[in-house]
Amino acid sequence: ALRRASNIHWQKLEVDKTARALQKRQTPCVLWFTGLSGAGKSTVANLVEKRLHAMGHHAYILDGDNVRHGLNRDLGFTAEDRVENIRRVAEVSRLFVDAGLIVLVSFISPFRAERRLARERLEDGEFLEVFVDAPLEVCEQRDPKGLYRKARAGEIKNFTGIDSVYEPPEAADLRLHTDQAAPDVLAEQVIQALRARGMLR
Ligand code: PPS
Repeated sequence: ALRRASNIHWQKLEVDKTARALQKRQTPCVLWFTGLSGAGKSTVANLVEKRLHAMGHHAYILDGDNVRHGLNRDLGFTAEDRVENIRRVAEVSRLFVDAGLIVLVSFISPFRAERRLARERLEDGEFLEVFVDAPLEVCEQRDPKGLYRKARAGEIKNFTGIDSVYEPPEAADLRLHTDQAAPDVLAEQVIQALRARGMLR
């Protein structure tokens, strides 16, 4: 159980999100990439960040594989640990949005409830759910890290899509079919979605 601190108040700060965002010529937001392992979340997120950076915008990627080396190194892949994994990442994204950044979150984030909680921690329009969609067979065929093979062999337990559930988004803001278009085409779709919402200036 969590030990909660008491007597904690909210410290109001002088420079706020709006001021930081104005300076950065962008509307801070979260692009939440969700999808199976091997679907292409990190690939597309990386290309989007590269483009944003080239346009002078300030983005930052939170990637499951990386965050699990540090902040979330105490967490594994049970349902309970994944819930906590996503809770923490949602809180970190919220801080980064407050800092004025475009945050690219690249986590499997298999549960609808946790993705909804992440959305609810932000203001309207600040959270865009990006479904990085490829059939399980395609992801398994790609198997870039050899993890599906290990999962099939029973060497990895609780592997998403094999013996751990993935709940696809029901109404994603953006759906990218990575088995039907090249990563740079999909990255461009994400940039267009930001433009269409007036989030880049
Ligand atoms: S989650 O479900 O959001 O908590 O997962 P995430 O933090 O994104 O971590 C997924 C990456 O961890 C590797 N990995 C596993 N994935 C799924 N299930 C199991 N059991 C597992 N064990 C290790 C895997 O490389 C995932 O990376 P991606 O980039 O998604 O392929």
